[in-house]
Amino acid sequence: HAGRLWGGRFAGGTAPAMAALSRSTQFDWRLAPYDLDGSVAHARALHRAGLLTDDELAGMLDGLSVLREEVASGAFAPGEDDEDVHGALERRLTAVVGAELGGRLRAGRSRNDQVATLLRLWLRDHLRLVAGAAAEVVTALHDQATTHLGAPMPGRTHLQHAQPVLLSHHLLAHAWPLLRDVDRMRDLDRRLAESPYGSGALAGTSLGLDPTFVAEQLGFASSVPNSIDGTSARDLAAEAAYVLAQVGVDLSRLAEDVILWCTYEFGFARLDDAWSTGSSIMPQKKNPDIAELARGKAGRLVGHLAGLLTTLKGLPLAYDRDLQEDKEPLFDAVDQLLVLLPAVAGMVGTLTFDTERLASLAPRGFSLATDLADWLVRERVPFAVAHDVAGETVRYCEARGLELSDLTPKQLGEVSPLLRPEVLDVLTVTGSIDSRDGRGGTATVRVREQLDEVETALGQA
Ligand code: ARG
Repeated sequence: HAGRLWGGRFAGGTAPAMAALSRSTQFDWRLAPYDLDGSVAHARALHRAGLLTDDELAGMLDGLSVLREEVASGAFAPGEDDEDVHGALERRLTAVVGAELGGRLRAGRSRNDQVATLLRLWLRDHLRLVAGAAAEVVTALHDQATTHLGAPMPGRTHLQHAQPVLLSHHLLAHAWPLLRDVDRMRDLDRRLAESPYGSGALAGTSLGLDPTFVAEQLGFASSVPNSIDGTSARDLAAEAAYVLAQVGVDLSRLAEDVILWCTYEFGFARLDDAWSTGSSIMPQKKNPDIAELARGKAGRLVGHLAGLLTTLKGLPLAYDRDLQEDKEPLFDAVDQLLVLLPAVAGMVGTLTFDTERLASLAPRGFSLATDLADWLVRERVPFAVAHDVAGETVRYCEARGLELSDLTPKQLGEVSPLLRPEVLDVLTVTGSIDSRDGRGGTATVRVREQLDEVETALGQA
């Protein structure tokens, strides 16, 4: 039964279509280095339990390090008849160390606890990589925000002009979600730090093997408290899929801003040549493909999360083969983000902003109307009245094709006697921005503070 870890109770061979369906080496082979780590730890546990002699342990470890080299160099790869990564490696180990010794390694473990452990090991390593790449995007946003500190832009709600904000404030608003994602990954790592090894098929380990010892060898903080849960739970896989999808969604929202900013109509920003693409027919085109791929891949990542949760829903305990479907969505989500994140970081870092245009558009669309109302409130006018007066002022301007800042003292008086000429002092972009100086606001002092906070958060990421 080469490459298959079962067969004694089966009379004949496996139907080819059955084998084709069952085979998972095409995607789980990337767990091979982790499988070998697990085998090393397991061999030591067998030795401690008196089930391998000193010589046998030494022979086993030698064999496993031969395999490690063969896997790394590609000298050994799974064959057609190998069902999964576990079977392929055991087949090769047996060939290297002999059937007598090779056949001893499987005692007291199951592919169910193995694969659950390997997936956690893989996730712990790869979420760290994704977090590092996400931090690079945050760095690019932080750099742009530092460069442009002081530059105003139109702030929008409902995509309509709302209130002026600092460009840096807007850029940092994209940094915080990504920093929370980085924090989520770190937090999830704490939950991933429990080893299922020793759970066996479902009921736990016999033979006096010590799951805590194996856990320590593999860098886990502890072993799982329940072997059924250890082999059948995939909530942590789903949580990983969620965090990865959330990174995708956060990049997608950033991407959508970039796409809008780079349109002819907005004209807020320009993409660098190295980080954009042309058209095969239209010579003038410069397309935001990175941003569009970010937006597109977000859909794919959300799909992985939805697919995995749907697979888990309704699965009885303990292990079911459905669980094999946990790996591909996670592998793909990580693969996609590891190519996407560096591209987004490059795109953001090389954006050129038209700060003059941003500044001239900032007060337009009556975006200073709230400042007018706030001025009245400071004059002890109730906000409801102030809101009405400001609204009437907007109507007055709209009818005459004026902006709020264009109004003369005489015109202000026509709208309402409450509007003394002093109100004109707050009807400026800088006045508006720097008046929003409560914590988290867009005032320059607060944004400077935020830049420091982002830097601190990056230092901890
Ligand atoms: N390849 C399987 C998985 O990824 C592990 C093998 C468990 N197979 C089994 N028949 N119990 O979940």
